[in-house]
This record gives sequence, structure tokens and C-alpha cells, in this order.
Amino acid sequence: HPGAQAWVPETGGITELRKAARSCEGCDLYREATQTVFGEGPAKARLFLVGEQPGDVEDQEGEPFVGPAGRLLDQALEEAGIERSRIYLTNAVKHFKFEHVERGNRRLHKKPTRGEAVACRPWLIAELNAVKPDLVVALGATAAQSLMGTGFRVSTQRGELFDLDLAELDEPCEFLATVHPSAVIRLSGDDRDEALSRFIADLAKAAETVG
Ligand code: URA
Ligand code: SF4
Repeated sequence: HPGAQAWVPETGGITELRKAARSCEGCDLYREATQTVFGEGPAKARLFLVGEQPGDVEDQEGEPFVGPAGRLLDQALEEAGIERSRIYLTNAVKHFKFEHVERGNRRLHKKPTRGEAVACRPWLIAELNAVKPDLVVALGATAAQSLMGTGFRVSTQRGELFDLDLAELDEPCEFLATVHPSAVIRLSGDDRDEALSRFIADLAKAAETVG
């Protein structure tokens, strides 16, 4: 994987980045996916959320978190008192990765590899440098490890505030990780209720942090 860096424009804001990302060939994922799904939200959002990668619906619509995981996220954001229209929402990897299930044409999400997350990381860094948020919230391990390194463990370090002080960032900011909404969707009954409450609590802490 050569990585996305060669496609990232050196100047310009989110609009220029989004446009340039449409033709990214920084890893093989662009080959099978429908389109690049870039981040969305106000150019100067204080709160910046990072998911894993677009799913089937996002791949078709070209926008992040508009499928089932997005609906769960919307519910949690609302309960945490966060207005979706005021946050920047993106993914660690910008193309949908999937496999075809044997019969029928259902496309099954496949977790991106570390190599794909590394290849796509220049887009995430460029988005952070354009938006300059106060707080980044990683939804799940792919996003958390892309920014905090592979030693980061969501299970034990979720809900805690960290400094995100990467050499590539023009301005440092704060960082908090929580689970991916898909992890909540997979559960049922009391387990789901508890996972959803904890997810909402982490988001509420994020809201409180940015004020
Ligand atoms: N899951 C993600 O991580 N991101 C999306 O945009 C949709 C589902
Ligand atoms: Fe480029 Fe990222 Fe898509 Fe790979 S996943 S082609 S690095 S935008």
C-alpha cells in the first residue's frame, strides 16, 4: 500500500480535501467500493467523531453513518445532548471493505487491516488539521489505534481523556475513545441496554468536555 499521502492536497480546507479524496488510490479498497465516503460536518466543529469505515449504505449514499450504525449513533448522540449537525463525523478508512456472501448479492462488511488504516490515515490527519477540533472521539478500536497506536485498548481505556499530541497535528487536542455503535447493535436484552448506557455516558462526557 503506497498510502493516501500522495493524493492529499497541501493547501485548502475540507471542501478541497473531500474533492481530492474522490480519486484516492492509496490502497486497494477503492477498486471494489462505489465511492469515497469522506467526513461531514461544520468546518470548525469542536467535536470530531471517528468511526471505522463506511458500511454498505454509506458506500451507496456517499455519506458517513447513514445506515444501521448511524441510526444507533443518532439515538445515542441525542440522549447525550449532542446535536449531530454541530459535530464533524468521519471514518478511519474511507472506502467500504466487504465480501460477497455465497448466494445472493448481500455485501458483508470486513474489518480493515492495520495496513489499510495506515494507508488511509493521511486523510484523517488532514481532516484534523483542517477542522482543529477541541476533542476527538474514536468509535471503536480501528479509529482509536489509528490515532493512539496499536497499544491502545478500548476495553480498558474507554471514557478516559487523553492528550492527542501527534507530530503531524498543527494543534494538539484532547482524545476520548468509546465503543463502535455496531458493537451495541450486535447485543440484545440487558446486555444491549447496558452497552448503550455506557456508550451514551462516554458521549455525554465528550459533550461536557467541549462545553
Ligand atoms: N460504521 C462506521 O464505522 N462508519 C460508518 O460510516 C458507518 C458504519
Ligand atoms: Fe485511499 Fe483510504 Fe480509499 Fe484506501 S481506503 S483508497 S487510502 S481513501
